Amino acid sequence: MKIAVTSASGQLGSAIVKQLIKEIGGKNVVGIARTPEKAKHLGVDIRKGDYNSRQQFDEALQGMDAVLLLSGMDDPQKRIQQHRNVIEAAKANGVKKIVYTSIVGDETKTAFSPVVQSNRQTEADVRESGLQWAIGRNGIYIEPDLEYLDHYFEAGEIRNCASDGSCAYTSREELAYAYAQMITGEQHNGKTYNLVGEPITQTELVNLINQVYGTDLKYNAVSVDDYARERKAELGEFIGTIIAGIYEGIKNGANAVPSDFEKATGRPHMTPLAMIAAFKNED
Ligand SMILES: NC(=O)c1ccc[n+]([C@@H]2O[C@H](COP(=O)([O-])OP(=O)(O)OC[C@H]3O[C@@H](n4cnc5c(N)ncnc54)[C@H](OP(=O)(O)O)[C@@H]3O)[C@@H](O)[C@H]2O)c1
Repeated sequence: MKIAVTSASGQLGSAIVKQLIKEIGGKNVVGIARTPEKAKHLGVDIRKGDYNSRQQFDEALQGMDAVLLLSGMDDPQKRIQQHRNVIEAAKANGVKKIVYTSIVGDETKTAFSPVVQSNRQTEADVRESGLQWAIGRNGIYIEPDLEYLDHYFEAGEIRNCASDGSCAYTSREELAYAYAQMITGEQHNGKTYNLVGEPITQTELVNLINQVYGTDLKYNAVSVDDYARERKAELGEFIGTIIAGIYEGIKNGANAVPSDFEKATGRPHMTPLAMIAAFKNED
């Protein structure tokens, strides 16, 4: 079985490629990347594929049995057609199975909802493709918070608008393991899984970080409007709006979903404590 992974130059794409190499051998794995030189280090066949180009995917998917389509990063409306370029190329070039990395989140009520909706549209496109398919809905990665810890320690706090809402975090490593099982295992065909761990509040997250790092961080909740203003000032309009929308969704309960991780992998998801400890050990 020959499997292609899109966005192979990115952090999730490269983690999936590495997991697949372990499971089916590097000869059976192809990385597709908009910037192929950024994926060469993976040591497998790397082909060019920008989501804006149907033609590049017609070439990149030659000889592939299955493709793992990673959600793009563009403006939500543009993503739908970009993902369709991959789906259509897969259909036209004899690919038998497609697995899509979608997302958990509030579909209607936050500034992040347009991203969630565009992911839901691609889910529908994948289901209607006529190919065998499986879909994962990714939880929020825990790593970006942990990569930001020095800033949090300096401020003495984690502050956002999630309030006492719970979030079922995951990690790219856990996702990579799940996607490798989903794309190689026929029992996952036709399934949509929430790929998340156990839900925790921001206060619980802070307590776990303090436990692992021996620190004394506090959690401070701020209003959605104040948080959106702060994030936009620091990160710019597009990303700032999205980040505030994600935390508003957590506040609304949209990220406290039940986990299907064990159905996808046959084992429990790592606990939040274990993910934080693993991150610290790798640091
Ligand atoms: N669950 C979460 O918490 C969370 C957080 C952030 C993002 N996400 C989603 O998860 C996906 C993967 O995350 P990540 O951690 O791997 O992000 P990442 O490390 O930033 O990688 C993003 C990848 O997207 C590729 N890409 C961007 N535009 C493209 C295009 N037009 N055509 C083809 N590839 C394109 C980039 O290619 P280049 O190397 O050429 O730039 C890169 O490989 C993201 O795309 C996003 O949809 C989820």
